[in-house]
Amino acid sequence: MKNPVFNQIKQYRNVFILTPVLMIISGILETMIPLITTHIIDDGISAGDMNAVFYWGKIMLVLALGTLIFAFFGYLTSAKASSGLAANLREAVFEKIQSFSFADLDRFGVASLVTRTMTDVTNIQNTAQTVLTSFFRTPVAVIYALYLTTTLNRRLSFILLIGVLIITVFLSLIIRITVPIYQKVYGEYDRLNGRIQENVTGIRIVKSFVREKDESESFDEPAASVRQGFIKVEKLQALNNPVMMIALEFCFVGISWIGARYISAGDMTTGDLAGFINYAFQIMTYISTLVLSFVQVSASFASFARVREVLITEPSIKEADEPVASIQDNSVEFDHVSFRYGRGGGLNVLDDICLKFAPGEMIGIVGATGSSKSSLVNLISRLYDVTEGSVKVGGKDVREYSMAALSDRIAVVLQKNVLFSGTIMDNLRWGRKDAGYDECSKACAMACADTFIEEKENKYDEYIEQGGSNLSGGQRQRLCLARALVRKPGILILDDALSALDNETEARILHSLKTDMPDVTKILITQRVASIHDADKILVMDKGRVNGFGTHEDLIKTNEIYRDLCGVS
Ligand SMILES: Nc1ncnc2c1ncn2[C@@H]1O[C@H](COP(=O)(O)OP(=O)(O)O)[C@@H](O)[C@H]1O
Ligand SMILES: [Mg+2]
Repeated sequence: MKNPVFNQIKQYRNVFILTPVLMIISGILETMIPLITTHIIDDGISAGDMNAVFYWGKIMLVLALGTLIFAFFGYLTSAKASSGLAANLREAVFEKIQSFSFADLDRFGVASLVTRTMTDVTNIQNTAQTVLTSFFRTPVAVIYALYLTTTLNRRLSFILLIGVLIITVFLSLIIRITVPIYQKVYGEYDRLNGRIQENVTGIRIVKSFVREKDESESFDEPAASVRQGFIKVEKLQALNNPVMMIALEFCFVGISWIGARYISAGDMTTGDLAGFINYAFQIMTYISTLVLSFVQVSASFASFARVREVLITEPSIKEADEPVASIQDNSVEFDHVSFRYGRGGGLNVLDDICLKFAPGEMIGIVGATGSSKSSLVNLISRLYDVTEGSVKVGGKDVREYSMAALSDRIAVVLQKNVLFSGTIMDNLRWGRKDAGYDECSKACAMACADTFIEEKENKYDEYIEQGGSNLSGGQRQRLCLARALVRKPGILILDDALSALDNETEARILHSLKTDMPDVTKILITQRVASIHDADKILVMDKGRVNGFGTHEDLIKTNEIYRDLCGVS
């Protein structure tokens, strides 16, 4: 199958096929029951033959039991099938998201990815369940029931058929009106979900900026819109029932009226008429469930499309066909690099950058916020790919290496870094799975994280809450640095990663990085010029361009921006 959503049925294929079969059998058994009623009435009650009543009664019981058992197992397998599909889908979507580059994540947005993994997959699961249990069973049952009525009385079944057609036309009209509304409501729902996501993740920020009121208000609008949408469709849905009832009454009246004439003319029995009325009722019920499931299926199209979109997205950063696995040295070179975010459009945030960092150098990067310092360093580890030119590590374009080789060699520590729920040790081993205790404690010492860890009750086994919320900002930053050091990188990039530390601690860390790791190329973005005075070279960025590149002594003489930053006039 082509559709990547259906591809996830995988090991549940059998239950996917079995469910409709079970449901169809249960439907056929159910539709046979009214036929038995006619026999009970005509052969039993009217003829005064109790044996016949018991005989047909037993058959009816068997049919009813059969209906029940097949439906029971049908629902069981459908639950297995639909929840299995959902599990596979979640796994596939999750795996896909792991392969996404930063640019892909920018494109979808994190909130939307969460909605797609959770709400949309749940929608698909419910729809699969409905489709499996009623989409095949109901039409077969309706057609079979209609056929059985013709064996009772051809002309009457013709009347019934007309009633069914009228109802079907009317209900499809309702579907045509409600489905677009449903789709719109679900779109709004999505927006609402997005807002919740964004706000709950950022609740601390919202609170610290005392924005609770504004945020609640901005939540009100999509919430109200969802409510109104649901009311609108429910109103239309509410029409369904009365319409069904009226149609049913008309059918009853018509059938009884004509049927009574047939009976008095001796062309039809009382039992046949009773059976007929039963069928009319059964058929109408079937149709109305079918209509509801139609609405549900159409409403879930959007969910299908959204999940599919994730699954078919090719990660924008791909490995070369024959990736190089080993990196010669720790040099970094920017060769006429230009870069802009997003696909097409937009302005260059980096413009024609040419730079060389020798292996083992300590490079400081300074510049105003928005001068593209982060954008520059993100290109080294391929968090983003260049738009023009090339970034070289060890003399080769980074795009030629395998991702494993790059991530092995380069460690990046961001200002806002993420810790995961688990012990301190677990988090350190994110750096490298097989890192031993000694390596980890050495990395912590270099990152000045050892003292605060030793003070914790459980030391390295201290539990860290999701996002590291039970640590201070400075502790988090030191732990993130230690985690990067555990990896023993050849190129270490700190993007404003020590901002929450005091000057003295930062200086101590930088000093130990410089003396203890002479072979590692260290690239440090910082707001504090003082902390990188003794870097081998300092890069001054300005509006996406290199404004100056040299030692502290050079720059203090020649570079205006640098002099400003140092407070020298
Ligand atoms: N993910 C992104 N998508 C689009 N534009 C971005 C993104 N990240 C940064 N930018 C833009 O790129 C420019 C440089 O940002 P950045 O590299 O973060 O600067 P710095 O790190 O020096 O503060 C800014 O104009 C910013 O708005
Ligand atoms: Mg930045």
